[in-house]
Amino acid sequence: MGLAASVHAQEDDPAKLSDEARKVATALLQQIGGELKKEYEISGPLRSVIVCKYTAPEVSSTISRKSGAAVKRVSLKVRNPVLGMPDSWEQKILLDFEKRFARGEKPEAIEHAEIVSETQGRYFRYMKAIPVGPLCINCHGPVDSLTEGTKAQILSEYPFDKAVGYSVGQIRGAVSYKKPL
Ligand code: HEC
Repeated sequence: MGLAASVHAQEDDPAKLSDEARKVATALLQQIGGELKKEYEISGPLRSVIVCKYTAPEVSSTISRKSGAAVKRVSLKVRNPVLGMPDSWEQKILLDFEKRFARGEKPEAIEHAEIVSETQGRYFRYMKAIPVGPLCINCHGPVDSLTEGTKAQILSEYPFDKAVGYSVGQIRGAVSYKKPL
């Protein structure tokens, strides 16, 4: 095997690629979760909506730059359609995650990895489910349970919001990781 081929084989090692993707996805969730928790404790839900709007995309782009992969959060019911809308592959995997969840798998452990050929080339693609925790309910719970202030602010920032009606333990969406091979 020539050098190029062996480098290629190593790059394509699915176990290694999955480990790396899982690490990056977990870091993203921890960072966004940490910022959210901090802001929530300091200023409550109203300002935290702003944190979500600016901090989450910022964290995603920093992590993407560092990891050499496109890393973002996607969902079947998005709040921000510009950033959170899944492509067709992501949509398929999210639907599969819902099926796995319905069959009793724990959201924290649900993930999927695959090497995908697209017109622009080959990619390692990975997704990790994002579970709904107690803090999330303040802004993603059933509409009736949100405070008037939160409801009004979400509606003014996101007039097409679909990301409500969740309860703790469900799947809110997934981290999507896409790396060119
Ligand atoms: C203070 C309100 C607030 C809280 C609490 C909150 N979110 Fe969000 N969430 C938002 C806002 C606002 C957006 C849209 C961000 C943007 O513009 O990209 C969002 C977007 C998302 C997205 C991206 C997909 C989409 O719908 O646009 C995911 C995934 C998500 N939230 C998960 C969570 C999880 C999981 C928790 C709990 C750990 C949580 N959120 C807690 C307000 C909140």
